[in-house]
Amino acid sequence: MELSKLSSTCFGLTLCLLSVYTVAQAPNPRFKAVNLGGWLVIEGWIKPSLFDGIPNKDLLYGTQVQFKSVKLGNYLSSENGGGSIIVANRTSASGWETFTLQRTTDVKYQFRVFNGQFIGQGSGKDVVSIANDPGTTETFEIIRNPGDNKRVQIKASNGMFLQETGNRVTADFQGDLGWGDNSPAVFVTTIIRTLQGEYQLTNGYGPDKAHQIMNDHWNSYIVEDDFRFMSNNGINSMRIPVGWWIASDPTPPDPYVGGSLNALDNAFTWAEKYGLKIIVTLHAAPDSQNGNEHSGTKDGSQNWGKTQRNIDQTVSIIDFLTSRYAKRSSLLAVELINEPLAPGVFLDSLTKYYKAGYDTVRKYTSTAYVIMSNRLGPANPKELFPLTNGLTNVVIDVHYYNLYSSMFNSMTVQQNIDFIYNDRAQQVSSITTANGPLTFVGEWVAEWAFQGASKEDYTRFAKAQLDVYGRASFGWAYWTYKNVNGHWSLKWMIENGYIQL
Ligand SMILES: *[C@@H]1O[C@H](CO)[C@@H](O)[C@H](O)[C@H]1NC(C)=O
Repeated sequence: MELSKLSSTCFGLTLCLLSVYTVAQAPNPRFKAVNLGGWLVIEGWIKPSLFDGIPNKDLLYGTQVQFKSVKLGNYLSSENGGGSIIVANRTSASGWETFTLQRTTDVKYQFRVFNGQFIGQGSGKDVVSIANDPGTTETFEIIRNPGDNKRVQIKASNGMFLQETGNRVTADFQGDLGWGDNSPAVFVTTIIRTLQGEYQLTNGYGPDKAHQIMNDHWNSYIVEDDFRFMSNNGINSMRIPVGWWIASDPTPPDPYVGGSLNALDNAFTWAEKYGLKIIVTLHAAPDSQNGNEHSGTKDGSQNWGKTQRNIDQTVSIIDFLTSRYAKRSSLLAVELINEPLAPGVFLDSLTKYYKAGYDTVRKYTSTAYVIMSNRLGPANPKELFPLTNGLTNVVIDVHYYNLYSSMFNSMTVQQNIDFIYNDRAQQVSSITTANGPLTFVGEWVAEWAFQGASKEDYTRFAKAQLDVYGRASFGWAYWTYKNVNGHWSLKWMIENGYIQL
């Protein structure tokens, strides 16, 4: 499969610069894969019912909330963004008026302010945001009005409720003026952002319930019959997202629960039975590489790659996964990390990690492909090319959606399709080069911003993408296999005649 080529550039008689690069031949046939999204790494939008049994399921860990005093009509705000008092005198809400919840029980929460500190009881009556590590006095109970659960009272650890007293907020209301507009202790919540990832799910259920819910999901969402379905319908491979906590199964760090490793083992067994190949992709890296729920983020923050320790920890997860599956005939590739986001993930941290990750995979296998995901955000699509020089069986992963950018919002059906045949085709061809790495469109979907498209429109859109992404030298993978939203489910698209492979 692999031809290594040595080229030399010589200056004069004595000085020779050698440059080694790799010509990787396209696999034949190319891979037609599907992502098993929402299986071993939870994404709420793919299967919302997983969250149904969580009390206060709209106030999960990492939820961002604003609070408006019913009496004054003003928003609570952390003065100066943090490190000062909490006030109730803002008529409009933005960053300083937004609090990120850390959920400690079904009803108890800590509130992180804009600058990172936590709300707590100060030494006097004033509520302040000075603590960097939340403790008892930074932990509050949110009590919701049963008749209108947007209305809340917030009970401090001293047993009293927060109230607005003119400009200031104090923790000294004794309780019960009811839920009406005249109470200084009633606030209306506005939820600004909700995350529904695996952290939120397991934290929300608590250890015992989470263990049961997650294992039921892992054992029923993807089963052997799905592998038969894929092999009968022209799919020859799959990309399986995993989270960093799989490496410490069966006892991953709180709140994660064990069991996903057993599910992945089953996938290898079934893949071998049906002649399918598996790409294991580290979707959720420690400390989150993009702040999205599919990266296992706690609260939307993105801190992956900021320390050597974090990079080393991530490499050890690749070591664990490769050593476990290197000898399995269905292991096609290890993808080192999914969708690192620029500018938060720096190219030099990523390069350092990719080099170490590549070497780690090669300790166990010379044949498995090593897939490197391009950075999302402002990044050159060929920025990893220098790194891949001299490496063997390396693949660059790009993700193409006609979504997530306002430029797609006003496109007609035909404009969407033209965009594939023109812009995307040009992008694929510019990264698919004779001497460069193999290329993989590791995520795409036949969905768009356009409303009211016909089945035939969707079929044409899917076909355009199959045509163009089929030119990527490694192959492509549809996002995703199962999804409550039909167009996002390749299984549904095949069963309903939208896509034929
Ligand atoms: C809000 O109240 C604080 C504390 O009394 C005061 O320092 C600040 O200027 C007030 N801000 C506004 C916008 O009224």
